[in-house]
Amino acid sequence: MGEMSESKEGSFLSEKVRNIISSYGIREVHVYRSEKESWDIIWRWLWFTRKIWMAQYWKETEKALQPLFPILHSLNVNSILDSSCGLGFKTIMFAKRNYEVEGSDQSAVAIRYAPILAEEQDFKIKFFRSRFDELGRKCMRKYDCVYSDYFDELETYDNLKASAKGVYSVLNEGGKFIFCSPSPKLKKAALKELIEKEWRRRKKFIIKQPFEMNRLRVTHIETLDKTSEGILENHIFIIEKKGVIRAEIASIMNPRIKWTFKDYVNVLEKAGFSKVEFIEREKNEVFIIAMK
Ligand SMILES: C[S@@+](CC[C@H](N)C(=O)[O-])C[C@H]1O[C@@H](n2cnc3c(N)ncnc32)[C@H](O)[C@@H]1O
Repeated sequence: MGEMSESKEGSFLSEKVRNIISSYGIREVHVYRSEKESWDIIWRWLWFTRKIWMAQYWKETEKALQPLFPILHSLNVNSILDSSCGLGFKTIMFAKRNYEVEGSDQSAVAIRYAPILAEEQDFKIKFFRSRFDELGRKCMRKYDCVYSDYFDELETYDNLKASAKGVYSVLNEGGKFIFCSPSPKLKKAALKELIEKEWRRRKKFIIKQPFEMNRLRVTHIETLDKTSEGILENHIFIIEKKGVIRAEIASIMNPRIKWTFKDYVNVLEKAGFSKVEFIEREKNEVFIIAMK
């Protein structure tokens, strides 16, 4: 990284990201390598800058949930665990629709801020920190439904298996686990084309309007890399305080397009789910509904 000092090895950073850092003349760069750390960094700075993006995100969340609400209604669900809740936008949307809802996420930072966001919206919602696979230990109750917008993006098959078991353990008898999957008609080889499509659709470089509060100024830049498993988002946060400028870089696969419908059915059956159904969400994508 030339003259830059990094707290961690930076050689895996793409040329694009290095160029951005150089163009700002930033010498102190912290690169977060694990997805777990990366989510914490992302939620930390997204929370700080929320005034500039939140209104739009509420609209996008409402839109994203539209196809799910009729499904929940038809399944006679009362209680829901939003099991990858992040800051809790969807959790709050469920509460607004009168579901008895709780939120969980592996990110400690997200779980710190989610109750504050809920309170700002006049809801008191329980949020707790848990990975999917730990739910049985971390969760004191059961639900009619576990929903996740991230289960389909887990990195390893072992983690998928352990996570399916964790979800199963917190469902009531007859409870449903709902998440998205590629359509059953898409075999492994077709996933490459899905990655290509997503790559063509996405903006490759986004620089958000800088946000300043209490003499701390944060600029969020997002660049994308295409990989064999999906789209790697690099979130570069340029942080300026008292004339000192530094950068924190967090990378996450979003979306990871690695698993077929059949892969999910296999892990769900192994976890003990008795029936796996699906409902079309959009072309090439379905909601999986796995029944305990
Ligand atoms: C796309 S974000 C969720 C966004 C949130 N649901 C929303 O609508 O704004 C994915 C979330 O999954 C969480 N996550 C990643 N791996 C996880 C795991 N194994 N168990 C539970 N949560 C996980 C991340 O911390 C992150 O908050």
